[in-house]
Amino acid sequence: MLNASNIFTLLKSAEELLKSNNMSEPKTDAEVLLCYVLKIKRSRLFFNRELAVSVQQFNTYSRYISKRITGQPVAYILGKTEFMGLDFIVNENVLIPRQETELLTEEVINQIKINKYEKVLDMCTGSGCIAISVAKDSAVEITASDISDKAIKVAVENAVINNVADKINFIISDMFSNISEQKFDIIISNPPYVKEEEFEKLEKELQFEPKQALVAREEGLFFYKQIAEKSKNYLNQKGLIIVELNANIPDKITGIFTNKGYKKIKLIKDYAGLDRVLVLKNG
Ligand SMILES: C[S@@+](CC[C@H](N)C(=O)[O-])C[C@H]1O[C@@H](n2cnc3c(N)ncnc32)[C@H](O)[C@@H]1O
Repeated sequence: MLNASNIFTLLKSAEELLKSNNMSEPKTDAEVLLCYVLKIKRSRLFFNRELAVSVQQFNTYSRYISKRITGQPVAYILGKTEFMGLDFIVNENVLIPRQETELLTEEVINQIKINKYEKVLDMCTGSGCIAISVAKDSAVEITASDISDKAIKVAVENAVINNVADKINFIISDMFSNISEQKFDIIISNPPYVKEEEFEKLEKELQFEPKQALVAREEGLFFYKQIAEKSKNYLNQKGLIIVELNANIPDKITGIFTNKGYKKIKLIKDYAGLDRVLVLKNG
């Protein structure tokens, strides 16, 4: 039961409720959701802790806390998240962009600068977070594709709110099927890479995200195989493939590409020290 005497007691009671429902970050979640309801920055919560909230604010907050207890991620409750310092709309049709994927995006931006690349393909774009962040930072021509028309709709909205809609060509495509014959300097992808049996064991929160965005056939390798198989037709002679890795099977994934003649040039570890981003050069 939430206690609405003032902001302090409301936060404390929400935190307790989230904690007793085994939420991993009860304090953060309670604060982030309340800030959204009150339309204030997190740093202002402390200074306003003696203030009361309105009935409407209390009811909205109670609804958000109830959703959170079911395991619904905060980003879906708020309908938005941040990636590379930019705002992104998210809903149940797209994966919530992850911090690890910022490492991939930073690498792409660096490679574009170093090699003066001009043309980029982002496969499995989802919310469009990678393509849009790259477009914000570089003057490249970008194609971004996804099999899900609902994801592409979200990605287009995100391109509009970030003022880069004119720099990205969004395409609904089952991998390469609708990508016209052309050569790119970089092919990027954060594809689905969770094994079917791993998916069943994922925490409750992840089960709210689209299964199509997470699970890949053939032991999580299906999409890497597709990219390795077909990229030759779409990649410039000196082009790069940059993919996010399933950190449980980095060697298997690397092998799929090197067997097709690509050269591994870099492996980037994530904040947990896991192999997360693979950079390959066209052979
Ligand atoms: C792991 S999510 C990545 C989303 C986004 N790029 C990111 O990094 O947050 C994978 C995406 O692949 C898309 N996808 C799944 N199967 C696909 C296919 N056969 N062809 C193209 N995209 C596919 C999903 O719809 C989902 O948006």
